[in-house]
Amino acid sequence: MSSPLDQLCGRERTHYCGDLRPSEDGKKVFLAGWVDRRRDLGNLIFLDLRDHTGLTQIVCNKEESPEVHAAAERVRPEFVVGVEGNVLRRSADTVNPQLPTGEIEVRAAKLLVFNEAKTPPFSINEEDAKTGEETRLRYRFLDLRRPALQRNLRLRHRAALTVREWLSRNDFIEVETPFLTRSTPEGARDFLVPSRLAPGSFYALPQSPQLFKQLLMIGGCDRYFQIVRCFRDEDLRADRQPEFTQVDVETAFSSPEVLFDLMEGLMVALWELIGEKIAHPFPRLTYSEALEKYGSDKPHLGWPIEWRKLKVSESDRERISLQAPLKALRVPQGAKVSRSQLDRWQKLVHAKSIPWFSYLKWGEGGIDSPLKKAAGEEFCRKLAEDVEAKQGDLVLLLGRKKDGGARPTERDLDAASADLRIEVAEKMGLKSTSRWNFAWITQFPMFEYDEKERRFTAMHHPFTSPREEDLARLEADPSGVKAEAYDLVLNGNEIGGGSTRIHRRDVQQRVFQVLGFTAEQARARFGFFLDALEYGTPPHGGIALGFDRIVMLMAGESSIRDVIPFPKTASGVDLMCQAPAGVDAAQLDELGISVNEEE
Ligand code: AMO
Repeated sequence: MSSPLDQLCGRERTHYCGDLRPSEDGKKVFLAGWVDRRRDLGNLIFLDLRDHTGLTQIVCNKEESPEVHAAAERVRPEFVVGVEGNVLRRSADTVNPQLPTGEIEVRAAKLLVFNEAKTPPFSINEEDAKTGEETRLRYRFLDLRRPALQRNLRLRHRAALTVREWLSRNDFIEVETPFLTRSTPEGARDFLVPSRLAPGSFYALPQSPQLFKQLLMIGGCDRYFQIVRCFRDEDLRADRQPEFTQVDVETAFSSPEVLFDLMEGLMVALWELIGEKIAHPFPRLTYSEALEKYGSDKPHLGWPIEWRKLKVSESDRERISLQAPLKALRVPQGAKVSRSQLDRWQKLVHAKSIPWFSYLKWGEGGIDSPLKKAAGEEFCRKLAEDVEAKQGDLVLLLGRKKDGGARPTERDLDAASADLRIEVAEKMGLKSTSRWNFAWITQFPMFEYDEKERRFTAMHHPFTSPREEDLARLEADPSGVKAEAYDLVLNGNEIGGGSTRIHRRDVQQRVFQVLGFTAEQARARFGFFLDALEYGTPPHGGIALGFDRIVMLMAGESSIRDVIPFPKTASGVDLMCQAPAGVDAAQLDELGISVNEEE
C-alpha cells in the first residue's frame, strides 16, 4: 500500500540540481526533482537527485535523521522528492569528477516524497538509453527526462529565440497564417480535415504557407517570417516528419543576393549558440555543377573528392562496352582498398541499376584495372592522367553499359555516383575539410518530366519564377528552362529551399499551362491567387528553412525525432497517443462521412 505523500506547502527551490558548487559549502538549500539512482549502504542511503540541469548527490544518514533515512528507504527511481539540507564539500577521495556538482553533496535534514513512480520501462540514465525507439516513443514523457533530450529541447528553444531576434532586427515581422486552408502544392499529399458545416467539403492542412506569404507581400507586409508547422503526407525518413517546422521567410523588392546574405547572417547567429564560428559568404554551385561533381543537389562539400566527366573516344568506348558518359572519382591513397571492398561498391551501383562499373588502382607495380585487357595499358594511363591521379590513388569509374540490360537514366547515374561517393568517404574515413559545410545550390531546372503521368511537374513549386532569359522558351522547351530557385545545404542535408516568385499574372498563367492545368482548372484551384496578382504585386521572393533539420545538425543528432518533443514513427504513428485512431460513428455521421471498412 502506498504511504502518505508530502505536500509542497509553498516551498520554493533555492537551487536547481546542477547548480551547487563548493562555494555554497554550509548553505541551507531546498532542491526538488526525480530520484535518478538510489544506493543503499545500510545506515547511509545515497540518492542522486535529478532535474533538467543535472544531478546532486543527497546523503540520508540514519544516525543524523532516522526519519529521513526511513523516507529514503521507501523511495525508488523516478519518485518525485524534495530535499532540505546543508551543502557539504566532499572529501578529496569522494569527489566525482564526472559531475559538475561532484565536489559537493547535500546532507538531507528533511526528505519529502511528493509522488511515487511505477518502475519505468527503461532507465532514464543517459548511458542506458539504448532502449528501442518504440518503447521510448510510447513513454515519451519519460524519455523527455533524459538529459540529451532536455539539452536538445532547450537548444531548440534558444534557436527559435535567435531566429525571432535576428529576423526582427532586420525588419521582418512574424505573421500567423491559417492551418485550415486549401491545398498548397509542395509535392506531397495533403492531410485533409472534413468540414462539419459543409459536409463533403474538406480543408487541407498547409504543406507550407507559400501562397499566404506571397499574399502578405501583395498586402504590403514587405518582410515576413513565421516559425510555422507544416503538414505533408509523404514517406518518412530520419529527416522527414509528417508535421515539421519551417522558418518561413518572404521579402518584397529584394534580390536573392540580399536574401542569401540575411540567411547566412542567421546561420552565423544560430551556430554561435553552440560556440561555432561560421565563415561566410557560403560557396555557390549551380544545380548542374552539383550533379556533375557530386551526383546530388545536396552534396557534402567537406569531403575532398569529386566526380569528373571524362571524354572517351568512340573506338575506346566500343572496346570497353561503354556508352557515354564516363564518370570518374579519384580517391587519394585509395589503391590499398581490398578486392572485396571493390566488389561491395560494384554491388551497390548494380543495385542502383548501373551495370557499368570499373576502377584503376595505381599501386607500386603500376596501374591495375579490369579495363586493361580490353582497352590496353595506355588507355588506363590516360584516364588516370585525366583525373590527375598519382601513385597510391584509386580511380572509380561509372557509366552506362553499351547494349543489353535496362538502360539507366542520367538520374540513376547521378544517384549511384552520389551514393558511391558517400560510401567511399565513410569507408575510407575521409576527414571533412571543415566541420560545417554550407552551400547554396542555384539555377534548378524549372520543370521535371513525370514519365508516369506524362506531364511536366514543378521542380520547386508552381509559383517559382523562371529565369528572365528563359521566359521566351517556356512553352517550346520546358526542360531547358531554369528557375530562380535555390537550396541551402549543410553537410549533405537540404536545410532550406526558396525562390524568386512569379509576380505577373500572365507568367503565372503560362506556367500553369505548361504544368497541364487548363485555364478553368487553374481558376478553380488558384483563382483567388491569380486575381490577387492583378492588384499590384511587387517583385518578391523568399525561402523556408527546415528548422528541425537545423536543430538536429546543431545538436549533433542524426534524426529529427531527437529534436522534436513528440515525434511520429516512420509509419506516421504517435505511439503515445495512439494516433491516428478511429472515431465514433456519430462523429462521422455529423461530418457526412462513411468509411469503407473493407479497405
Ligand atoms: P521546401 O518544400 O523545400 O520549400 O521545404 C523547405 C525546407 O523544409 C524542410 N522540410 C522538411 N523537414 C522535415 N520533414 C519534412 N517532411 C520536410 N519537408 C521539407 C527541408 C526543406 O528544405 N514553400 C517552399 C519554400 C519557399 O519557396 O519559400 C517550401 O516549403 O529542410
